[in-house]
Amino acid sequence: MPRGRTGFLTLLAWFAPAAAALAATDYLGVVPPKAVQPPAAVATCAACHGATGTAIAPTFPNLAGQNYSYLLKTLEDFRTGQRKNATMTPMIATVPVAPDNANLKQLAAYFSAQRLDEAKTPGVAAGPLTLEQAQAGYQLYFQGNAKADVPSCVACHSMSGEGDPSMAVPRLAGQNAAYLVSQLQQFAAGSRATAPDHVMAKIAKRLTAPEMQNVSAYLEHMRPSLLPGGGPTSYAQFVQANPSGGVPGIPPAEIAATK
Ligand code: HEC
Ligand code: HEC
Repeated sequence: MPRGRTGFLTLLAWFAPAAAALAATDYLGVVPPKAVQPPAAVATCAACHGATGTAIAPTFPNLAGQNYSYLLKTLEDFRTGQRKNATMTPMIATVPVAPDNANLKQLAAYFSAQRLDEAKTPGVAAGPLTLEQAQAGYQLYFQGNAKADVPSCVACHSMSGEGDPSMAVPRLAGQNAAYLVSQLQQFAAGSRATAPDHVMAKIAKRLTAPEMQNVSAYLEHMRPSLLPGGGPTSYAQFVQANPSGGVPGIPPAEIAATK
């Protein structure tokens, strides 16, 4: 589905306030500290997020390879109580308060420097996704849903699913689906209100439960390395280049054989 003129204008309407709100934060252009030795607190984080940032279960987020600016913003949001979670809030309290949040910066730098092995996340280990889910998730991510005024996710989360560090937009590629679904539900319910200008709440409220599941399942299996030079310009073009089938960005072996 080519993005028409109306689609493009809708996209700009979503983007402009977000960019303006984000420009006011400290996260633009931040340079992570060099030290990537694990800070002492990592021993605590490891119980759920793994020592090198690959979570121990799909309900916990992988932190490896997440961008520094988003990780830092998020840790600060937990610290100030802007973002709350019954499990995570007590954990941030175990990290001593330090001037200029130096220790949160060290944690963000450490986890962002770890490489996420997307083939080995707990989400991928849980099993393949169906072709229907992969196609529906792909479509929502790259094209949005004009009928429900849902912008494409690619507009902010990038053509390869790696996010946009310059605006603290998180990487979604390779993230566990169970975690992603829970966040979309929280954005929709208003219990997570961390995005500038509430962009994610506005979007999540317009998603159906199956759409949340499908896009999350797609993202869990999405490999930036399979989207060289960015995502496909059209599904038809992808099918032409891949006559054996499949879905852009997903290893064919992870799509369940359909009847
Ligand atoms: C007992 C399990 C547990 C431990 C230990 C733990 N966390 Fe978490 N963490 C969670 C859960 C659960 C969430 C998801 C919270 C939610 O749904 O909002 C989370 C979320 C996060 C996120 C948000 C990720 C994202 O993509 O938005 C970051 C960053 C994070 N934790 C960092 C840490 C750090 C750093 C430590 C160590 C100081 C730590 N966590 C210790 C359970 C844990
Ligand atoms: C206008 C820009 C924009 C668009 C479009 C957008 N997002 Fe986001 N998204 C964000 C920002 C900014 C955040 C970070 C919020 C914060 O600071 O906590 C985010 C966070 C998220 C998170 C939380 C990730 C985590 O690690 O906790 C999920 C899940 C998500 N977006 C999914 C989507 C999906 C699915 C779509 C498409 C249907 C989408 N987003 C479209 C800007 C956008």
